Amino acid sequence: MRIVITGGAGFLGSHLVDRFLAEGYQIVVFDNLLTGRIENIAEHLGTSRFEFFEQDVTLGLDVEGRVDAVLHFASPASPVDYLRYPIQTLKVGSMGTHKALGLAKEKGARFLLASTSEVYGDPDVHPQSESYWGHVNPVGPRGVYDEAKRFAEAMTMAYHRVHGLDTRIVRIFNTYGERMRLDDGRVVSNFVVQALQGVPLTIYGDGLQTRSFCFVSDLLEGIVRLMLHEDTGMSGEGSSYMCEDLDIHLPVNIGNPFEYTVLELAQCVVDLTGISRLIEFKPLPVDDPKVRKPDVSRAMKLLSWEPKVSLQCGLESTISYFQRLLLGKEMV
Ligand SMILES: NC(=O)c1ccc[n+]([C@@H]2O[C@H](COP(=O)([O-])OP(=O)(O)OC[C@H]3O[C@@H](n4cnc5c(N)ncnc54)[C@H](O)[C@@H]3O)[C@@H](O)[C@H]2O)c1
Repeated sequence: MRIVITGGAGFLGSHLVDRFLAEGYQIVVFDNLLTGRIENIAEHLGTSRFEFFEQDVTLGLDVEGRVDAVLHFASPASPVDYLRYPIQTLKVGSMGTHKALGLAKEKGARFLLASTSEVYGDPDVHPQSESYWGHVNPVGPRGVYDEAKRFAEAMTMAYHRVHGLDTRIVRIFNTYGERMRLDDGRVVSNFVVQALQGVPLTIYGDGLQTRSFCFVSDLLEGIVRLMLHEDTGMSGEGSSYMCEDLDIHLPVNIGNPFEYTVLELAQCVVDLTGISRLIEFKPLPVDDPKVRKPDVSRAMKLLSWEPKVSLQCGLESTISYFQRLLLGKEMV
């Protein structure tokens, strides 16, 4: 199989590249390195089953030869990144998704969209199941990401319904692990890097807002299962959608259902890094979700998937990754 991965030089995309290459697939990556790093894929450059194009996917995706699947992961993903690149985020979610769908249609390939728990916004339903339509402020600063992904989901379903494209949508909840950037700005990397540098951990608001944290290996397993899952033919044009539960084309949440307050996460990082507890409180950003916890029963039922890595194990591995990264930076 030959797979195109947009955003393949990013945190998640590059892990997918490793996983699929290890399983014998051919991989083509498109990435403009806006928030990704060439180091993430450096070991594969010049190897026989790997091709890399440094390119903005909103400008088009031209691939010669066969393509069996298109995984659309290109998009700034951390709040720091999408607030820094609001227009690029909207463009890659809309025009980029359109181009990626166009490639899948042209090649008769399966398409998988990396969507997000942010489609639920600041939710008034808890935990969040896929049938919840969300509570998003379209004109707030976060709207650039949330609405781009909501548009991308709508576009994906339209290609499925109109063109019969074999599509998948994964709604990814906060994921962490090796290859996050030092300045990535997500809560896990923020806390770990601050703790290792001996500066106070920044908590926005009172820290009682909740999040669920999925270790990257668990997420990858869910995504691979979703991508490889065969279509049972329960949906598409003309279907009555009587069996939504079994419809593999409708979104699937992948995340860890254990819920922690941000303060509890900070405490965990403090305990595991052994630093003395130093916390600095700052105002809560606009529209910050107060709670976040996936209902993963659909993923369990359809994919026989559930997360396996505890927060403690995942954090230990992430802390040692950031230790190596900081050490390497000091030595340069
Ligand atoms: N990591 C998470 O917790 C999480 C949660 C929800 C959803 N997601 C989704 O997963 C995907 C990957 O996220 P990530 O955490 O790896 O982020 P990331 O920023 O590390 O990776 C995104 C990649 O997309 C590339 N990119 C951005 N705009 C592009 C464009 N116009 N053309 C080509 N390449 C472009 C970046 O350079 C980067 O390599 C994103 O679509 C994100 O929305 C991630």
